Amino acid sequence: MIEADFAVVGIGELATPFGPAPKTGQALSQLRVEQDAAVAARAGAIVYVGRRTDFERQVRLRPHATVLDAQGGTVLPGFVDAHTHLVFAGWREAEFDARLGGATYREIAARGGGILSTVRATREASREALAALVRERLDAILALGTTTVEIKSGYGLSTAEEIKLLEAVREAARGHPVQVVPTCLAAHTIPPEYRERRTRYLDRIVEEILPQVAQTGLARYADAFVDDQALGLQEARRVLEAARDLGLGVRLHADQFADEGAAALAAELGAASADHLEFASPEGLERMARAGTCGVLLPAASFFLMMERRPPGRELVRAGVPVVLATDFNPGSCPCEAMPAALWFGCLWGGLRVDEAITAATLNAAYALGLAETTGSLEVGKRADLVVHAVPNRYHLVYRFGVPRVRAVVAGGRLVVPAGDPPQLR
Ligand code: NIG
Ligand code: FE
Repeated sequence: MIEADFAVVGIGELATPFGPAPKTGQALSQLRVEQDAAVAARAGAIVYVGRRTDFERQVRLRPHATVLDAQGGTVLPGFVDAHTHLVFAGWREAEFDARLGGATYREIAARGGGILSTVRATREASREALAALVRERLDAILALGTTTVEIKSGYGLSTAEEIKLLEAVREAARGHPVQVVPTCLAAHTIPPEYRERRTRYLDRIVEEILPQVAQTGLARYADAFVDDQALGLQEARRVLEAARDLGLGVRLHADQFADEGAAALAAELGAASADHLEFASPEGLERMARAGTCGVLLPAASFFLMMERRPPGRELVRAGVPVVLATDFNPGSCPCEAMPAALWFGCLWGGLRVDEAITAATLNAAYALGLAETTGSLEVGKRADLVVHAVPNRYHLVYRFGVPRVRAVVAGGRLVVPAGDPPQLR
């Protein structure tokens, strides 16, 4: 008999990607789907996934085991949000309203708004205040089904401030059920005090910020934003090569508003991911496919920016790039922290099918964060991170868009949403 201390029963439909990651092409939509299913876990890891009838024959629940009744709902792996800027202070609703009036995101950035307005507000916040904000946001995304999240710094833009942000993330993540992967985005843009001497700021990143971050383990990845309002291609190359030499993984904000050749740079650097990609060239995508660099689509952001260019979901699938869906949660281009929204927009706006979107938001996303061995699918031996959605099958998650359907969240084999005692079956 398999011993378990946690189980979910009464599952109407269980759907999960399975096997080696990443998934590309047709494999992106190959899910394991079971009706009338159950899942069991011991000490935080999955020990059984399958039909309820076999569960009853094969699994022995320990005394005081927790049993959650999914009440016919749909169970998926916990969402993995592989791209957020979740550590920031202040919102930018006035810029949003100006955009509704016709101003563009790039125009607002060019007059000192945009990222730089959040930099001002974030610099004024203490590390403790930021940690409290991050903790609240981790609670909020957990309730929306996210059990793993990547968090970028990038609103500090000096050595002390970038370290402050990453320390706030570390402090907030300690003991929190959401698994957090920190990324240093000191190369988000050039801060105003360095506008006339850009290279000096890049020197700072390469000589101070990244070495400190790598040494203290405050981030696992480094990222850079290639854009005419941020870094040039060669500037990003310099930063990311230095990061790689320090043993950090690299990712890139690539070709969001124009084809800057950033997708190809990501591939050349062996980046874990290139993100956004609305304007990436077919050659850039091909090179990413060959290098195994994931393509992170942020369809809620392009929708929110009212971009005419859609996220290239079909192009990525066709090119054989491992597709990932994430939120891009930040106060400027996506003030929405909900992974269900990444699925709605990924399908309705980015051209993905429902099963492709599920893999892109779970197993492929875990792969993009270097966590596919432990995270992102419901398979024996992996972390028991799962979500019960109050819908009869997975299609309803996108079909009935606009409302998150999360009924319960399990992280590390513990029921974390709703908090408190689970309804006991016996
Ligand atoms: O991913 N593209 C650059 N960075 C963020 C936006 C950050 C902001 O507007 O504050 C993004 O969209
Ligand atoms: Fe971003």
